[in-house]
Amino acid sequence: MQIINSIMHMQALAIAPERGGRRISFVPTMGFLHEGHASLLREGRTRGDVLVLSLFVNPIQFGQHEDLDRYPRDMDRDCRIAEACGVDIVFIPTAAEMYPAGFQTGVTVRDISLPLCGSSRPGHFDGVATVVAKLFNIVRPDVALFGCKDYQQLAVIRRMTADLNLPVEIVGMPIVRESDGLAMSSRNAYLSPCERQSALCLSRALVKARELFGAGERSVPELLLATRGVIEQESRAVIDYVEFRDGFLLSEQQVADGNTVLALAVKIGQTRLIDNCVLGEEL
Ligand code: PAJ
Repeated sequence: MQIINSIMHMQALAIAPERGGRRISFVPTMGFLHEGHASLLREGRTRGDVLVLSLFVNPIQFGQHEDLDRYPRDMDRDCRIAEACGVDIVFIPTAAEMYPAGFQTGVTVRDISLPLCGSSRPGHFDGVATVVAKLFNIVRPDVALFGCKDYQQLAVIRRMTADLNLPVEIVGMPIVRESDGLAMSSRNAYLSPCERQSALCLSRALVKARELFGAGERSVPELLLATRGVIEQESRAVIDYVEFRDGFLLSEQQVADGNTVLALAVKIGQTRLIDNCVLGEEL
């Protein structure tokens, strides 16, 4: 496994003639890898000849008062996990090289960036779209894998890739959960044992909504009431948003269907967690 820090070096490998017909599959991450990331890597391994993982805590997708400085990092452990998943190249650029003095270009995906996390984290998806576009130009992947855990992020990246005719196949992967239902996340490391228990209200709320949907409930106001109720029972939980939206366009809906996505963002203490499910799919 090769570790590359320089953008030029990474790009040179990606466009080298000796790449020949070899397909590059790519998993971009911010590191502190867990089983969710590993599932993307294992699938990536089967979809390409060269598997590239990037580790980069992207400063421009964090708001001023967010957790950029304390975002968990452990490069050595990440490299061990990468090796075990069959990664060929770990790309670890520096912020100074990704965003040198004078940097001033950004990618904005308009409408679908605005609701949900876009409304509580203004500018977040501009930062995500910009870094992913840059990484695609550096790594030149044929296929890139993303988790449905970040449902809106995946929608934004799909839109950007289509709108800008980027020659990359985007693959969405299912959410990997702990055995008790908590969606895996690097930010789970922030939770105290008590908070870890409280965080289960997110997946409980998804289960409740899917139960009601399965029993025939289609009214979004009714589904919303029940879902919020589950979270509000948990004293440590503060709702950022609970929303039922069309799973493709992320537009608002009054009547749910099988493609409706229930998206949650909830603060447990200082930690903001997100989770989601599509009502017609298995959790
Ligand atoms: P990060 O949060 O590290 O996530 C990297 C990838 O892993 C994303 O595609 C995310 O959806 C996926 N992922 C995270 N938790 C998962 C889980 N429990 N199950 C399945 N997949 C999961 O998302 C980012 O980094 C950044 O925004 C990035 C795209 C790298 C741009 O900076």
